[in-house]
Amino acid sequence: MTANVGQYSPEEEKLFEEIANGRTFEKGEDLPPLYRKHLMNLLWMQGDSEYSGALGYMPWIEKAPDVKEKVLVAQITKDEMRHSQVIYKMLRDLGENPEEHIEKTDMGWKLPEDDINIGFQRLKDDYRVNIFYYQIKYWEDFILFNFLMDRAAGHQLEDTLHSSYLPWKKGIEGIYKEEVFHVTHGDTNMKKLCKDPERRKFVQERLNLWWPRVMNVFGKTIGGANDIYVRLGLKKRTNKEVRDVFVEEIKGLCAEMGLTVPDWSEEENLAIKTH
Ligand SMILES: [Fe+2]
Ligand SMILES: [Fe+2]
Repeated sequence: MTANVGQYSPEEEKLFEEIANGRTFEKGEDLPPLYRKHLMNLLWMQGDSEYSGALGYMPWIEKAPDVKEKVLVAQITKDEMRHSQVIYKMLRDLGENPEEHIEKTDMGWKLPEDDINIGFQRLKDDYRVNIFYYQIKYWEDFILFNFLMDRAAGHQLEDTLHSSYLPWKKGIEGIYKEEVFHVTHGDTNMKKLCKDPERRKFVQERLNLWWPRVMNVFGKTIGGANDIYVRLGLKKRTNKEVRDVFVEEIKGLCAEMGLTVPDWSEEENLAIKTH
């Protein structure tokens, strides 16, 4: 960590210490510039991910296999749109203008290619996590999204339940519960699909495609990528710690369902330049 010495001012070092000792921030409070900058990064990333996630789910209200599933997909879509509303409200309270941002960006945009992995690249000027660039092409993709992505989000949101920014900490409690419901929907349907050997084969094919995409969601770990979020009390664990917990859980579940978790390499994904 010697490379980081002198990176932060004495006031910022003092801020880290106060936060480590339990300092929190309320709505309307003046935020130290470093804190505000990193908080906004995370809020924009979550707000736009929830919003574009909801848009990506919408067609599946109609395309889900039966009426019971159409209702569940409608419920999940509503949840995601509500999550974006909660986060955008926080951004508005911080002086940002989410409505204008939605107007100016194209959050319904999806990559035209299906069989593609773009690594860590960003292709648009909204702030969504880049997994939301990919198309949900099959029902199996929708289910894998609940199984993988909602679970990944759930693990990340667990940290937010302890956030030093109190409006976020409060807002996340309801969001977290709904994400748990989405994960359960994924798990139940994954088990159902994998009982049939033919469908399991297809689920494995789609899992191979979605796996690097979801692993990249946790962000870079090389170079202590999110230490600053931990020091500001905006996260509790580093990217690598959260990803490791997620991978262990998925490996156990996939083994029960007769699926194989593919290999993934951060270096390889960092090197991908498709666009
Ligand atoms: Fe959500
Ligand atoms: Fe979700």
